[in-house]
Amino acid sequence: MRFVRQLQMKTSILETTQPLPTTKPLDLGWVRAQFPSLSRKVNEYPAAFLDGPGGTQVPQRVIDAISNYLNTHNANTAGAYATSRETDLMIAEARCAMADFLGCDADEIVFGPNMTSLTFAISRAIGRELRAGDEILLTHLDHDANISPWRALEECGVKIQLADIHEKDCTLDMNDLASKITPRTKIVAVGYASNAVGTINDVKTVIRLAHEAGAMAYIDAVHYAPHGPIDVRGLDCDFLACSTYKFFGPHMGVLYGKREHLARLHPYKLRANTNAVPQRWEWGTLNHECIAGIAACVEYLAELGKRSASVSGRHEELQAAYHVIHAHERKLMERMLRGLREIPGLRLYGISDPAQLEARCPTFAVRIEGHTPLQLATKLGELGIFTWDGNYYAINLTERLGVEQTGGFLRIGLVHYNTEQEVDRVLSGLRSQVLP
Ligand SMILES: Cc1ncc(COP(=O)(O)O)c(C=O)c1O
Repeated sequence: MRFVRQLQMKTSILETTQPLPTTKPLDLGWVRAQFPSLSRKVNEYPAAFLDGPGGTQVPQRVIDAISNYLNTHNANTAGAYATSRETDLMIAEARCAMADFLGCDADEIVFGPNMTSLTFAISRAIGRELRAGDEILLTHLDHDANISPWRALEECGVKIQLADIHEKDCTLDMNDLASKITPRTKIVAVGYASNAVGTINDVKTVIRLAHEAGAMAYIDAVHYAPHGPIDVRGLDCDFLACSTYKFFGPHMGVLYGKREHLARLHPYKLRANTNAVPQRWEWGTLNHECIAGIAACVEYLAELGKRSASVSGRHEELQAAYHVIHAHERKLMERMLRGLREIPGLRLYGISDPAQLEARCPTFAVRIEGHTPLQLATKLGELGIFTWDGNYYAINLTERLGVEQTGGFLRIGLVHYNTEQEVDRVLSGLRSQVLP
């Protein structure tokens, strides 16, 4: 019971941020002008990118940073010549940008191809320390990238536990989760937010419970990162992974690890990799042009913050950005929920109670009687409205809810560059399919 109450009392996804001096509303005109792809047309319709959870669009400055790197600075690292030194500097700067983004030190940032690979890297290294009978706690709400890398350790005799959900609103059952943390639990791996149904988990409580039992906490923040600010120190998580292509950057993954863990664990690595943190976790040649794009995407968010509030310093600017992003997304979310309620035969999976909206982000999983999610997505696609259908790798959830065999859900995912008109368009697109 106590955790249910805690969830209900959860104040705001922005609870880690400080009050801001003066905040202006989101300048949507400026925001949209930053993203060239938003002006695309499909079948004469303006494209409505409601597929953010699968990957967001990028601002022009990200495209420029990638092409500028390839035009002018392209080289491998650690060479005794100009372009190589520039590459070293650029990577160091991108690490600082991500450190400001996540609230940690630059040497606690690891770059990798994507969140999945980084999670496998950590799970393999942790697996070297685990013994038969040790336990790992996962959840039914998580993306498979935070499930299978841990399940792989079953071959060493590790036992996997799964925390259940409340079926009625797809929130984590915190009592069940707490009851499954035992003295044998070594890792608790939980998503910050669900990429299928939008639930924001009370990860701070999960991390505290893990630590009380002597376990480490691994947080998948991939879906949360475009919607709310992340403060790894405030959370006190041991690891947190995210993917820059979900928050307006290029296709890459970023991992935060507490320095002590990054130094102590034993990654599988090449002899040529030194034991320095974080390079011992970064094998082979990284995607330098995309790393240049990461710094630019953090700068985009920082500029959005600077335009919205009188703050200075990149970390503060990022906090300000998420304040205005949150307010805009909240407006879109309320409009979407009001409209979805009026569509006959539609079932929404996830939080719909207006009093609980702070515990969800604007990601909506729906099904409509008599239509498969693929049929719905295809029709919307013809109208230039990009949504997704299926399980989006949240397979534990689609199986748990019994929709895996029948096409999963239709997912409508909003981010801060989406508009009220786009919300109305998807609602009318859905209505036109169900009404005669
Ligand atoms: C919640 C969540 N976790 C993990 C992943 C995997 O991320 P990546 O594609 O960077 O491996 C995704 C991708 O969709 C996701 O939505």
